[in-house]
Amino acid sequence: MALVCIFLSLLLGLSAAVPQDLSGKMLVFPQETNTAHVRLTTSRQNLGAVTVCMRYFTDLTRAFSFFSLSIPSQSNALLIYKQPVRDEISVTVKNIDTILKGQDFQINRWQSLCATWEAASGVVQLWIDGKPSTIKFASNANIGGPIIIVLGQDQDNYGGGFDKAQSFVGMMTDVHMWDYVLSPQHIDNYSQKLNFPAGNVLNWKSMEFQITGRVLIQKEQNK
Ligand SMILES: *[C@@H]1O[C@H](CO)[C@@H](O)[C@H](O)[C@H]1NC(C)=O
Repeated sequence: MALVCIFLSLLLGLSAAVPQDLSGKMLVFPQETNTAHVRLTTSRQNLGAVTVCMRYFTDLTRAFSFFSLSIPSQSNALLIYKQPVRDEISVTVKNIDTILKGQDFQINRWQSLCATWEAASGVVQLWIDGKPSTIKFASNANIGGPIIIVLGQDQDNYGGGFDKAQSFVGMMTDVHMWDYVLSPQHIDNYSQKLNFPAGNVLNWKSMEFQITGRVLIQKEQNK
């Protein structure tokens, strides 16, 4: 029995580490909790630039985390966060918050979101449904350290410190992350579901991840 258990857990452990093609699938976060989340795996430890894109659907009118990346010294090394104010979304880099106002955030509608940052200029920009935000300064320093990326919760400390009042409830799909700033043309293509280069840090078509709690993988709904 013990041997079977060891074998099973090895099997599960191994299968979790195999990248999966999530094309045509979405993550469903059907419940507000301080536990349910998806951890996305990358071996990258040093980022001098970033683009993160995703599509989401939610009816949340409170604050929540779209994307939470932490390193041991900074829980908000990269945080994309819906502010309590309806049209404000922040992009935090290395614990420095940048609030982008006047965003066309909608409930009960699939929307695309892309956020970019590069250390060289230090600036961030956000794109909702292909529409750009103002460019704002955040940080000139690289993000360095073993990275933990979480969807569905906001990390208030490295790999944890979740608060259900900041959790995501809804659906997410097509999550990609690049180690460079995607061109506006590619971001436009992403938002229109046309051709764009797959993420070289996180790739929805080859994703290593671990689910904790009630998060479902379902067929994407296009309507
Ligand atoms: C955007 O997508 C179109 C249609 O697939 C493609 O022809 C074009 O090259 C793409 N643009 C870029 C910048 O890749």
